Amino acid sequence: MKTKELVVSAIENGTVIDHIPSDKLFQVIKILNLESCTDQVLFGNNLESQKLGKKAIIKVQNKFFETDDINKIAIVCPTATLTIIKDYEVVGKRVPSLPTEFEGIVKCYNPKCITNHEQVTPKFRVLDSREIKLQCHYCQKITKEETLNFL
Ligand code: CTP
Ligand code: ZN
Repeated sequence: MKTKELVVSAIENGTVIDHIPSDKLFQVIKILNLESCTDQVLFGNNLESQKLGKKAIIKVQNKFFETDDINKIAIVCPTATLTIIKDYEVVGKRVPSLPTEFEGIVKCYNPKCITNHEQVTPKFRVLDSREIKLQCHYCQKITKEETLNFL
């Protein structure tokens, strides 16, 4: 008989963020500000996934993210799914959807934009709920998937 163990241990209470493309793991860690998290954070990278080829998973003890934070994940990886765990049981699922506006995370692609020259945090309006079309608050130029670079 084959036994299947979890590569990353189960958690008692908190949030599991799954189906993260491997190359986006550290971006998600940054967006959720997990560097400054004092509770247990577990992660695995380059795990087998039928859908994504290689995927990453993050498990954060005692953390239940706000919708605003969850939605920021969609800017980096719309495929991510969140599972809410209480007393070792799955009690809910969340999926990120693009926010209507946000600050930071992404660079404005316009090289002349003030955000690329001064200490000004980029700020965007999201023009489309399905694809990346981010209008800069300062120069009005639109950053798309092809021109997307992270801060
Ligand atoms: N999980 C965990 N700790 C628990 C319960 C579940 O870390 N106490 C993790 C599982 O390892 C899995 C994720 O939470 O990675 C989702 O659990 P579950 O919904 O049971 O798995 P699936 O049905 O495979 O969910 P999905 O299709 O969303 O991957
Ligand atoms: Zn700009």
